[in-house]
Amino acid sequence: MFNYWVLDLRPNTLLFYPAHFKNKFMSNNNIKNNWYQDFYTKFYFTYFHQKKDDVFQTKKEVDFICKILKLPSGAKILDLACGQGRHTLELALQNFDITGVDFNQQALGVARAKAQKNNLPIKFFPYDIRSLPFKNEFDAIICMYTSFGYFINEKENIKVLKGVAQSLKADGLFLLDLPNKYWTIHKIPRKTYRKFKNTSILESRSFDSVKKIFHNRITLTNGKNRIEKISTYLRLYDLKEIKNKLAGSGLKCLKSFGNYNIKINFETKKSPRMIVLAKKNN
Ligand SMILES: C[S@@+](CC[C@H](N)C(=O)[O-])C[C@H]1O[C@@H](n2cnc3c(N)ncnc32)[C@H](O)[C@@H]1O
Repeated sequence: MFNYWVLDLRPNTLLFYPAHFKNKFMSNNNIKNNWYQDFYTKFYFTYFHQKKDDVFQTKKEVDFICKILKLPSGAKILDLACGQGRHTLELALQNFDITGVDFNQQALGVARAKAQKNNLPIKFFPYDIRSLPFKNEFDAIICMYTSFGYFINEKENIKVLKGVAQSLKADGLFLLDLPNKYWTIHKIPRKTYRKFKNTSILESRSFDSVKKIFHNRITLTNGKNRIEKISTYLRLYDLKEIKNKLAGSGLKCLKSFGNYNIKINFETKKSPRMIVLAKKNN
């Protein structure tokens, strides 16, 4: 079906992909401000979530969350952008009073079904993370696995942080799990090609250092050569910048970690993640 393949050896790139992809994925340049609506409802849970479905990985992340937050049984936690409820369900099993919000009704449907099956009294709401209706309600809020920084207009990202501060009780804790900017720019290959069942997935990544936005152009094609082009955009922050954004929203950074392990402190050049623990300023 493919005439020839391309071997791309540019820095940060080592990749073989069918040549007919070349022009198709390069031409996807217009920023779509609400990219996350289509991406998360149509593509993410089918093509990009597999690793995160790993039960062992989720348990490791929840163990980390519990060790960091050190909350008593029954404490009220909000899982912001909870998706299919990986952390929400595990935290409910640990006897926390947990609420999950996500705008993605399909993902919430999966989460609700799992909660029902396990008899877990979790509240799920289909809210947008920019307009949380809660006031002084939670002992802690978690925002796991790169669920922040989706909005091209930075004011929208700040709305999320302000909503978090408003939703927390006095002294409430916020755990924000982000990718490390340095790692994302320097260690993640510029291009990757993989097959998932019948679909070929080519991802081409770049970083706009002025807007501080990481752009991933994704091309999906199946055996019949049908093409879907999607772009994702993620605002990347370094530690100083996210501390300032948190402070400006009423949240004080207490500590930062480089991975899902309380012994691993954040280090710019070494850490894959930048996980920040903050506390509401009273
Ligand atoms: C990378 S996934 C992470 C899901 C979950 N936290 C996990 O670790 O499995 C990001 C989630 O953010 C949700 N999301 C994206 N934009 C949103 C918005 N504006 N309001 C609410 N949820 C949003 C998506 O539906 C998706 O479930």
